[in-house]
Amino acid sequence: MPAINVVVSGAAGQVGYSLLPQLCGGYVLGADKRINLRMLDIAPSLEVMEGVKMELLDCAYDLVDEITLTTDAEVAFKDADIAILLGGFPRKAGMERKDLIAKNTAIFKVQGEAIEKVASRDIKVLVVANPANTNCLVCMRHAPSIPTKNFSALMRLDHERMRSLLTQKINEACGANTVTSTEVRNCIIWGNHSATQVPDASHVTINKDGEAKPLSAYYNDKEWLEGALMKDVQQRGAAIIKARKLSSALSVASAIKGHMRAWLYGTDEVVSMGILSNGNKLGVPENIIFSFPMKCHGDYQVSIDESIKYAPSLEKLIENTTNELLSEKHDASSILGKEL
Ligand code: LMR
Repeated sequence: MPAINVVVSGAAGQVGYSLLPQLCGGYVLGADKRINLRMLDIAPSLEVMEGVKMELLDCAYDLVDEITLTTDAEVAFKDADIAILLGGFPRKAGMERKDLIAKNTAIFKVQGEAIEKVASRDIKVLVVANPANTNCLVCMRHAPSIPTKNFSALMRLDHERMRSLLTQKINEACGANTVTSTEVRNCIIWGNHSATQVPDASHVTINKDGEAKPLSAYYNDKEWLEGALMKDVQQRGAAIIKARKLSSALSVASAIKGHMRAWLYGTDEVVSMGILSNGNKLGVPENIIFSFPMKCHGDYQVSIDESIKYAPSLEKLIENTTNELLSEKHDASSILGKEL
């Protein structure tokens, strides 16, 4: 099997440093997949990328055929099969959200255009850099010959945050080791990867000893589930930045691994992914990248689990996260001078 060309943008950054060992070690795309790694970043980060490349070489990975460092998107994306886009312009003190959208719209336009021009027509693109959902839309719209289903935005981080908080809470309430994280299934995040996202525990099941029981069999405090749980998941990124003075990185890398493996290999649980909203039957407007409960069938085939509906009590929150995405899209569209 030929090696897969894998682009990681923002490769000199914190998330790259956590992700690259897992990617090169075969934990993301599989232990049978050889890769040509394309590390893309901006010119001031070239020397750091060189240092990271030295470390990757020192790991003597069996699966890595080539490592290319570049600041040129067209070099990075040439015949690329997979792109994991970590590189974006970070929010700086005093920056308005609109400024952040402007900076990132410019970056993701260039990357989309490069994908359109030189990437494999079958490329799969995962957008991680914030604002991830809108960056994904900008990238997708500048690569019109690539199927829209080949683009997704990372929501798995929020999904795992919710899974972990629920696991901790059940074990606190029912006794240590009552459940493991993998037994807590069907966490759902709706909407945007931002503080407006809607973590929804109403479909969670505990799959233990071959049996799926509703969450309520273990824990049923609605006040916590619809209050502190939601707020803590929504605010987790900010809490990490406050504590670390840096944004999350190792948990992002772990979520990327989960997202890519579910997308490629499929999974029997419902996971949260940001995808283009077109054709959904849940009333979410078209042409935004929205996080839905997704069934992953393997080989990058996914579908919205339409048996899962949000409760009427969440409607206002869903409207809020939808409006935020529409407003981000509106800002990006005005910068580009065309409707996304
Ligand atoms: C996170 O959720 O931890 C990050 O998206 C936060 C950030 O702004 O980097």
